[in-house]
Amino acid sequence: MATTFASKLNAQIGHEFAASQQYIAVAVYYDAQTLPQLAAHFYRQAVEERNHALMMVQYLLDADEQVVITGVDAPQTEFADVVAPVALALAQEKRVTAQIAELVKLARAEGELVGEQFLYWFLQEQREEVSSMSALLQVVERSRENVMLVEDYLARESGGENPLEAGAPPAAGGAL
Ligand SMILES: [Fe+2]
Ligand SMILES: [Fe+2]
Repeated sequence: MATTFASKLNAQIGHEFAASQQYIAVAVYYDAQTLPQLAAHFYRQAVEERNHALMMVQYLLDADEQVVITGVDAPQTEFADVVAPVALALAQEKRVTAQIAELVKLARAEGELVGEQFLYWFLQEQREEVSSMSALLQVVERSRENVMLVEDYLARESGGENPLEAGAPPAAGGAL
């Protein structure tokens, strides 16, 4: 019988794919407004979320647990202004941080120590993602009258390798 931990981790796979789909919707929103740096940033975030989902798939495969791939709810595709998608993204990252923290608590309660250790990387990743998304939100709010300043900021600041990627858990089929 599947543990509660395994079934909650399966649910988290759905949340990660939903986050990926939401980031694609955000990327397309910016792409349609010819804001290529913002678009590229969110296309990249979408791939990262997809990789997170497949890292969880690989964990369940390794643990000989059943893997369930579900559909996801439709993402939000319309936004009031250029700030709204980043505010939505930050709220999403904070929600995922809470979800991962709950999974860690559950793993601990069920004595799933291997699962608990697996999730530590995600806690670090969430700290990084909440931090970088709040920074981006500050920049976008400050530059809402001149979004090209955000484009300049991203062109300057992005491109550095995320050091966390080196220690990331393996993803089913390989990370993209
Ligand atoms: Fe994620
Ligand atoms: Fe994320």
